[in-house]
Amino acid sequence: MDDPDLPQDQHDHALRGLTTIHRFSGLVNRFWKTLLPLLKQSRQESSDRLTIADVGCGDGYLLRQLSAKATAAGFDVQWIGYDFSSTACTLAAQKADAAGAEIRFEQLDILASEIPQKVDVVLNSLFLHHFEAADVETILRKFRDASTQAFIVEDLRRTVLGYCLAWSCGRLLTRSPIVHYDGVVSVEGAFSISEIQTILASANIQNTEIQKRWPERFVLTYRH
Ligand SMILES: C[S@@+](CC[C@H](N)C(=O)[O-])C[C@H]1O[C@@H](n2cnc3c(N)ncnc32)[C@H](O)[C@@H]1O
Repeated sequence: MDDPDLPQDQHDHALRGLTTIHRFSGLVNRFWKTLLPLLKQSRQESSDRLTIADVGCGDGYLLRQLSAKATAAGFDVQWIGYDFSSTACTLAAQKADAAGAEIRFEQLDILASEIPQKVDVVLNSLFLHHFEAADVETILRKFRDASTQAFIVEDLRRTVLGYCLAWSCGRLLTRSPIVHYDGVVSVEGAFSISEIQTILASANIQNTEIQKRWPERFVLTYRH
């Protein structure tokens, strides 16, 4: 899905497949559960609105869902999506418009550039497994340095069950051959929890919590 030469229809199909997998896996609720206490605390402490950015946002599904939940709960948040794919940013902007969600999308290669502004919280989902450990260290440092409150990362764990789930659920939930291929390759490229802990230690990132979550995922939360 990260191939910039992928025809747009195949890219869109793959992103739709990924959305189906997100619905099945309960991704949005896990992010919301971690985000909600931060939103409540921030409302108590300040009248400024929070800025929340999703790096590697794809078609913006997570941001659209979180923005709808935050609005329904009465929180005023500025949402930003960053992705290095112009196709993803364009599609994400169209989908946000169609959903009436106020979200800004910008093209950004997180390895080549810094996050261009300070934000309160950085979100990141199903992204780290695309990178080598040294790059993950750089990326997590950038998340820490660009955020004022926290970063929340969810990703796959490299386990045998995770591989079986990616193979079988990928085929059950979507017909996108890109998702079928990416699913198992992603698990192969994913990290174990102990590898993530080694990366965090090497990046000198403390104040973190890592939780195992179904289906064979982990949620990493860093708080300032
Ligand atoms: C597997 S998709 C996940 C999309 C979204 N986070 C989700 O969970 O649906 C990975 C996304 O990361 C983007 N991406 C890959 N490398 C990137 C980079 N270096 N900087 C920013 N975005 C990148 C891809 O374009 C793609 O949209």
